[in-house]
Amino acid sequence: MIIAIDGPAASGKGTLAKRLAQHYGLPHLDTGLLYRGVGRAVLDAGHDLSDEAAAREAASRLILEALEEDRLRGPEMGEAASVVAAYPAVRALLLDAQRRFAAQPGGAVLAGRDIGTVIAPGAECKIFVTASPEERARRRHAELNRRGDAVTYEAVLADIRRRDERDSGRGTAPLVAAPDARLLDTTSLDIEAAFQAALALAETARKTGL
Ligand code: DC
Repeated sequence: MIIAIDGPAASGKGTLAKRLAQHYGLPHLDTGLLYRGVGRAVLDAGHDLSDEAAAREAASRLILEALEEDRLRGPEMGEAASVVAAYPAVRALLLDAQRRFAAQPGGAVLAGRDIGTVIAPGAECKIFVTASPEERARRRHAELNRRGDAVTYEAVLADIRRRDERDSGRGTAPLVAAPDARLLDTTSLDIEAAFQAALALAETARKTGL
């Protein structure tokens, strides 16, 4: 079974995807890491994020297995990823690796923005995870503070709103729920309750597909 989990930044989709993958024993790909990897490579090479040719070059060299999650996780890389992810050529270059990952025998769990719409439109289970911008900012802010980052709540909220706008407003593969995706609003759910809700959706999809 292919499970496609899409949604905006800090909606909880990453954690849900990981837990669903564990539950079903399926391989898991957080596709945001690919765009973060491209952003990182552009900056490491001394280019500006507005340099589309440099982003294309970085995407063409990206090796999925070599992505170092620790270096890519921070909020600056989220912003950088969102900028390079708006370039159609970058998205096109990353398409094959993601589709191959999804097509593994037995299935896979992928999380991102365009999994249910572009990468795996035939996925048996599609979940679009949302939460209010304020709640997402609250979660992200708490997580950053725990890690010793003194960023303010207002700055995190502004970052989330800016990213939502860029990811939803771009012409190629914008952040949008697939017509056949099930919506999961996690605003008032803790992670355990959100997981149980996601699992129930996945179980329904699995049984329908049997
Ligand atoms: O999920 P994340 O926060 O790691 O994603 C970082 C950025 O990458 C996000 O703001 C938009 C982009 N992205 C994308 O355009 N398509 C995906 N499938 C995954 C991420």
